[in-house]
This record gives sequence, structure tokens and C-alpha cells, in this order.
Amino acid sequence: MEIVVSGIRPTGRLHLGNYFGAVANFVRLQEQYRCYFFIADYHSLTTHPHPADLHGTVRQVLAEYLACGVDPKRCVLYRQSDVPETAELYLFLNMLAYVGELERSASFKEKVRSQPDNVNAGLLTYPVLMTADIIIHRAHKVPVGKDQTQHLEMARNFAERFNRLYGEDFFPLPQALGTGGTLVKVPGLDGSGKMGKSEGEGNAVFLSDTEEEIRRKVMRAVTDSGPTTPNQPMSEPVQNLFALMKLVSPPETVSHYEEAYRACTIRYGDMKKQLAADMAAFTAPIRERIAYYLNNDSLLRDILEQGQEQARASASATVAEVRRLIGFRKF
Ligand code: TYM
Repeated sequence: MEIVVSGIRPTGRLHLGNYFGAVANFVRLQEQYRCYFFIADYHSLTTHPHPADLHGTVRQVLAEYLACGVDPKRCVLYRQSDVPETAELYLFLNMLAYVGELERSASFKEKVRSQPDNVNAGLLTYPVLMTADIIIHRAHKVPVGKDQTQHLEMARNFAERFNRLYGEDFFPLPQALGTGGTLVKVPGLDGSGKMGKSEGEGNAVFLSDTEEEIRRKVMRAVTDSGPTTPNQPMSEPVQNLFALMKLVSPPETVSHYEEAYRACTIRYGDMKKQLAADMAAFTAPIRERIAYYLNNDSLLRDILEQGQEQARASASATVAEVRRLIGFRKF
């Protein structure tokens, strides 16, 4: 059976970008594949979270995975730092990754721009750790949003290099996987870029936001001064509102506002009210379940214990084989 691996960094709460880019697919894929889904807490150390915050965000993301329908009976759900074999494989892979290619990664360049005071080596080798996460279970497919395309390409390069160097097709070359084959990019509310791009309040709608918080954020979303001629091309902020509406509203609602846009009668205030109501209705059941899991620490603990056991079984088998291939052998 084909193997699927994916993860999310616990940097805060999950937003609709994480949901539609990744978690919604996890829920579908766990029915068809052998799936490993994890909380990427090693990865989040690149930004030096406070220890208490790290613990809190891991707990939050675990509750959110479960609330969305990721089911530990149907997949292996674990925390990355519970599987230290990942760190060993990361060390081996670092010997195969060239500094030049890592420096060319778009996300590294972005970090150098956005956090010039903290350009740590972990940021540079982030794609190597991500490769270790994926190939430690010898995965074939990786459900992610569009922003991870380049990382996946690097993962294929490193896996292929390992295979070539050690003369065996040991690792499958992992492919990115989106909804119906296409990788989605969920836009933010601030007019440009993806949801979650900036940590700033207002760009992202979180699964755990209350109805009131959603309404406040959506009503403040950037628009433009409105179309004045029929079939006027849409500005990026307005395209973004429609893209969000397509995710949470029924098709009739979307066509109603598209029609109004074409006829130049659209009132963005009405559209936003509708969008906020549909988002809140969409997330309401998830929000309830998040609260349920957050109130159930012993359940969370049991789930992580079981996940760790299953994930380590797979990871240690891979690492044992990797050690043998590299030439670390018993006398
Ligand atoms: P992260 O934590 O930034 O995001 C987690 C997942 O959510 C998706 N995503 C989006 N998709 C569409 N539109 C958006 N606006 C949006 N924002 C986030 C991301 O594509 C991702 O799938 N490096 C990864 C975490 C990771 C990982 C892995 C993923 C670590 N190891 C191994 C897959 C396999 C990251 O930072 O995602």
C-alpha cells in the first residue's frame, strides 16, 4: 500500500489555509493509504518559541487535528520530537545537501529578509529536516499546499541522491499531493499573498476563532472601490474574497455575487457579511470539537503515546537499513 506523510508546524492555531491546503486532505487520505501525520515541533524551533508556548501550541494543534477528523485509528498521528530517529536521518541527509542549493530555496531567502537577526543553520537546513520527516517512512505522497512545492522538489533531489550514492532504490521519490491533484493556495484577508503568510492579526481566519472574531476580520478584509464597467477584471483582493467564498459557501451564493460583480451592483459589505456567516457555519462544529479535546488531556496523552510507538516502529526500521547501506555495520 502506498504511504502518505505530512506535517504542520505548531506555530499557533490552525487557520483555513492549513485546513484546505492540508488537513482536509489528510482526512480523505487516511481512508485510502497508510498515513503518517505529525506535529512538526522540531521545525518550529527555528523561531525560538518560549518552552511554555511550544507545549501549548503542540497541544492546540493536536486537538485541532483530531477536531478536523484526523483519526488515530485510521492513521499514525504523532509528534515529531517523539521520534528522534528523524534527527539521526536528518544528520545523514545533511551530508548530501549542498549549501548552495539550500541557499537558493525561496523560503530561506524569505526568512533572511524577514528575520535578519536570526538566520540560524536550522533555517538553512529546514528542507533537509523536512526530507527526513517524509522519507523516514519511505513515503510516496505528501499532501501539502502550494507553498510547499519547492520543498518537495528538494526532498525528491535528496532522496534520489541518497539512492544514487548508496546504489539502491531504497527511498521512493515523494510526490506532492493536493485536492483532486491540484495544490491549493488559500489567500489571506489583507489583499495579497497566502493566508498565514504574516503572523499579524487579521490576515488569517483560525479554525478556533469565534463567530464574532471571524465577522470582525472578514469585515475588515481589503477590497477595492468596486467595478464601474461590466466585466471589469477583478483586483487581487477581490479575487481573494471570491476564492475564500468558493471554499466555504454554496455554489449559488458564489454565482450570485459573481453576477452582481459583472453587473456592477455588488456591495462588498453584503458579500463580506455572507462570507463571514458561511465561514462561521463551516468552522462551528470543528470549534466545538477543539474545545472537547482541549478539555481531555488524558485522551491527548494516550493518543500521542500510541502514535509514538507506531511511528518509531516504522522510523527505526528505515534508519537501521540506512545505517547498513551507509556502511555502519556490526563486526
Ligand atoms: P506549515 O506549518 O507552514 O503549514 C502546514 C500545511 O498547511 C499548508 N498551508 C497552506 N495551504 C494553502 N494555502 C495556505 N494559505 C496555506 N498555509 C499553509 C502548507 O502547505 C502545509 O501543507 N514545512 C511544512 C511542515 C512540514 C512538512 C513536513 C509538511 C514539516 N515537515 C513533511 C509535509 C511533510 C510547513 O512549514 O508547513
